[in-house]
Amino acid sequence: MLLSLWRALRLQCIIFCTIFLYNALGASDSSSQPPSNLPPAVPSVFAVEANILIDAPIDVVWSVLLDFSKYPEWNPFVRSQIVTDTFYIPTQDQQVAENLRLIITSQIPPLTPPVTASSQGNILNEHITRENITHFEPDIYRVAWQDLSLDLLIQAERWSALSVFVDQNGEAMTFYESREEYNGVLAETVQDLEGVGLLEGFQAQATALKARAEA
Ligand SMILES: *[C@@H]1O[C@H](CO)[C@@H](O)[C@H](O)[C@H]1NC(C)=O
Repeated sequence: MLLSLWRALRLQCIIFCTIFLYNALGASDSSSQPPSNLPPAVPSVFAVEANILIDAPIDVVWSVLLDFSKYPEWNPFVRSQIVTDTFYIPTQDQQVAENLRLIITSQIPPLTPPVTASSQGNILNEHITRENITHFEPDIYRVAWQDLSLDLLIQAERWSALSVFVDQNGEAMTFYESREEYNGVLAETVQDLEGVGLLEGFQAQATALKARAEA
């Protein structure tokens, strides 16, 4: 009895120590991976995520990210993003605030970059959603909006976050991250139909945001 307990403990130690060592080595190995400023992930059917390091001041990237009216000029994925009141009437100033709505027109998969305001979308790949701005935290550079279009069938919330990351050369960079989590009875269908295109969209937006902010 005691002996088997001892064996079990020893086995546990081997497992834990291996995990510990693995993490410790991994951590020192990937010291260039910036820490995340996204909130902890929630359990979801699937999630789409992209991130990129941008060589521009965080406030410059933040203003490009929030200046939705300019999205048509550079964003191959979200071709239009309009801030509205709760009756879906566009606001005068287009400023972001919690509990305002968004009308988002995206291309899934995204257009081939680079795009301009006059780039033609493919009507078959066009998706229009109505969303609620659920979180606006400018002091910590975080914002989120949630799809209201098919509320009962699918829940999808997209977070975007920025943070300052000092790289190995001591240079301050901006780390952009965006993640959308999908739940609900339709989530799996969305994943099957659009999972790859959505991921391409998130990545295309990250790459284009970098180009825009660094220009
Ligand atoms: C929209 O988001 C705000 C802020 O999080 C919340 O208070 C409100 O209940 C949300 N409205 C809807 C319709 O989901």
